Amino acid sequence: MPGPIALKLGKDKMYSPFTMAWKYLRYLLTADNGRGHGIHSPFVYQLIREVFMDQKRLAAYELPEEYRRSVLHNTTLLDIEDLGAGSVGGSRRKRTVASIARNSVKHQRYASLLFRLGCFLKARRILELGTSLGVTSMYLAAVSTAEEVVTMEGSSAIADQAEAAFRARGLNKIKVVRGNFDDRLPELLQTMTQIDLVYVDGNHRKNPTLDYFNQTIPLVPNEGCIVFDDIHWSREMEEAWAEICADHRVTLSIDLFAIGLVFVRKEQLEKQHFTIRY
Ligand SMILES: C[S@@+](CC[C@H](N)C(=O)[O-])C[C@H]1O[C@@H](n2cnc3c(N)ncnc32)[C@H](O)[C@@H]1O
Repeated sequence: MPGPIALKLGKDKMYSPFTMAWKYLRYLLTADNGRGHGIHSPFVYQLIREVFMDQKRLAAYELPEEYRRSVLHNTTLLDIEDLGAGSVGGSRRKRTVASIARNSVKHQRYASLLFRLGCFLKARRILELGTSLGVTSMYLAAVSTAEEVVTMEGSSAIADQAEAAFRARGLNKIKVVRGNFDDRLPELLQTMTQIDLVYVDGNHRKNPTLDYFNQTIPLVPNEGCIVFDDIHWSREMEEAWAEICADHRVTLSIDLFAIGLVFVRKEQLEKQHFTIRY
């Protein structure tokens, strides 16, 4: 979830807690229960079994969760730039590492799903937009097939904290790219030929989200996937998600409420969309 700064009012403001609760209830009542009944696509069935329903605690989760515990107690003050949804351009403020960890870092349930998804896709090259403290980057780096995890962060003090944590743990396959996605992403993508898994977790506004989708999708192979965070977080994000699902290049889209997954699989002859309870 974006940090508290994103609660500022604006066109991109998040839905009220009441609206979110109502939307979540509707999702729970209408989503497929994930048991696979009524899901005829073997690929989606396998994805549900191996990625969504796997509740085992794996050894791969230990290192990122140990790191999460340490940052939750870290009272170091960081001077950070506010970026993304709801922020006022160029504004700065001080926040403790612990407060960032509490408000901006993905819960284990979803972070571990990203790990299982990367394993399922046998992802070799992974791109994350929105490093924050680096918890999800660590999960992605645990994917055994991953050769490189490139993660982008616009706030340099937060990027420093994440980078120090990666180096201290010998996670050398994680490469941190600093700067605003809007400025740095085009040049970064010129250096990449294929991205098997893209995780978009920053700047939750409609046009930037569509822009990141349009820039990355040409590099996503048939077996690849793009994951968008907080697809029901605001009206803008819901509009962006609807446009992404309707895009002619997307053949399969899956709504898990907190995140959305899109695939470009050519063998999926008819475009399909699923809402699955997770
Ligand atoms: C929700 S946090 C990422 C959390 C992280 N993926 C995790 O769960 O461990 C989003 C991060 O994206 C960064 N961000 C937001 N908008 C950005 C932009 N336009 N350019 C660069 N970084 C941005 C913020 O500074 C923030 O640290």
